[in-house]
Amino acid sequence: MAEELHISASTDKIEKYESLIPQVEALISGETDLVANLANIAAALRYGMDFFWVGFYMVKEDQLVLGPFQGPIACTRINRGKGVCGQAWDQAKTFVVSDVDAFPGHIACSSDSKSEIVVPIKINGAVIGVLDVDSDELNSFDAVDQKYLERLMNSLSDICS
Ligand code: SME
Repeated sequence: MAEELHISASTDKIEKYESLIPQVEALISGETDLVANLANIAAALRYGMDFFWVGFYMVKEDQLVLGPFQGPIACTRINRGKGVCGQAWDQAKTFVVSDVDAFPGHIACSSDSKSEIVVPIKINGAVIGVLDVDSDELNSFDAVDQKYLERLMNSLSDICS
C-alpha cells in the first residue's frame, strides 16, 4: 500500500480509531521487521490520534530500553516493576492512568505529561516490550483506547512472531 495515512477529521475518538487502526494494520502487515513496524506505529498514532507522546520501551535483559517514539525526548531505561511501564511489563497487563501524579511510582519523563496508557506487547505469551502513550491533559484515556491499542498490539504480535 502507499505509505500515507488518511487521517479522520472526526472529533469522535471511536471514529478516529475505526479509521486509523485498519490502515496501520495494513501498513505493518507488509513488513515483518519489528523495529520498522514500531517506528511506523509510533508515527501513525502520534499524528493520527494527535497524541502528545507515543513510543515503545523494549525488554532488554532486566530492563525496558527506549525504542522508536514520536514526541519530546524521554527516559531511556526503566527497571522491571518501576513506573507505569515497568508495572505493565511485570504484570503483563494494560494500565490506564487518568492522573500520573496520583500513580505511585510514576516516572516523569516530561512534566507536561498528565495521563497515560501503557499496553504490553506479548509474543507467545511473553512480554517483549510496551507501548506507552502520554497526554498533556488529565483523563485522556479509557476503555476505548485500551480496546483499540490492545487490538493493534495483538496484530503487531501476530505479524512479527
Ligand atoms: N511515565 C512512564 C515513563 C515513560 S515516559 O512517560 C515516556 C512510566 O511511569 O513508566
